[in-house]
Amino acid sequence: MSLMTSRQFPAARLRRMRKDDFSRRLMRENVLTPADLIWPVFVLDGENRREAVPSMPGVERLSLDLLIEEAREAHALGIPALALFPVVDAELKSELAEEAYNASGLVQRSVRALKAAVPGLGIITDVALDPYTSHGQDGILDAEGYVHNDRTVETLLKQALSHAEAGADVVAPSDMMDGRIGAIRQVLEQEQLVNTRIMAYSAKYASNYYGPFRDAVGSAANLGRADKTTYQMDPSNGDEALHEVALDLAEGADMVMIKPGMPYLDVVRRVKEELRVPTFAYQVSGEYAMHMAAFDNGWLDADRVILESLLCFKRAGADGVLTYFAKRAARLLNNA
Ligand code: PBG
Repeated sequence: MSLMTSRQFPAARLRRMRKDDFSRRLMRENVLTPADLIWPVFVLDGENRREAVPSMPGVERLSLDLLIEEAREAHALGIPALALFPVVDAELKSELAEEAYNASGLVQRSVRALKAAVPGLGIITDVALDPYTSHGQDGILDAEGYVHNDRTVETLLKQALSHAEAGADVVAPSDMMDGRIGAIRQVLEQEQLVNTRIMAYSAKYASNYYGPFRDAVGSAANLGRADKTTYQMDPSNGDEALHEVALDLAEGADMVMIKPGMPYLDVVRRVKEELRVPTFAYQVSGEYAMHMAAFDNGWLDADRVILESLLCFKRAGADGVLTYFAKRAARLLNNA
């Protein structure tokens, strides 16, 4: 007599639905598609220039002519939008970041050219002063070296307006100043740019995962040993993220973002559950670098891990993910 007969049979066998591909597919709760991806890119001045970013293997800073070709490809792959970050020449950086709102600055020119070349691709611009300040902080410093909130917001307004006037579809303030979403929304309304969307980096943490990005845009050396803890959030906090998100929504944000991504998926979940608004997350440069280090050592299967890492954002509640893997992931998804 089998031992089994003296035991109870399991009431549920969850493995039944896992047995075959058809039933696994039927019960699948979340799917990742190219439409979930936003591709962050680094743009350089000049022509036919391509520079590797050593701490982000596979990521290149590109001059606009080359970036336009990449943008065409991204659009053809089904990626809805690109997030643009400038690499600003050292001589254009200053204490007050005036270059940030130069109507013919690198970002403003890039937006115009990208919108002309690939009109169907959404263009998201970063609103923050760090690529433009000689000290590498996201704002204007007072006499004590503290980032002055309201003076910074004044400059951010000019920057956001110059991006919107150049044709940016979405402005994305990543600076974490208080009141900037409301101020930007008011200026956009005043200037009748009523359809410019705002993606607020609402819950942006003072994270150590941004290092490779600061190498990529060339702000790391300027920042030196200073940090951003007086304006970006403490990684210890969760409730504060909900407070930030609620304020940004009340001030007129259309979409909110949590950043970094993978270590902060609990925050993504809470935001989505509490606010039920378009919620995005940023798989940041350090997350990219960690993955690439493991891939390049043969420790992880690149293609599978990329897709798993991005799918997990969807499961956590994100509507989309900013990721340096966007093109590679879109290719994998389209060929699957
Ligand atoms: C600038 C900005 C940063 C990132 C996006 N916008 C860096 C920072 O706040 O220091 C980081 C993105 C990444 O690490 O991939 N305000």
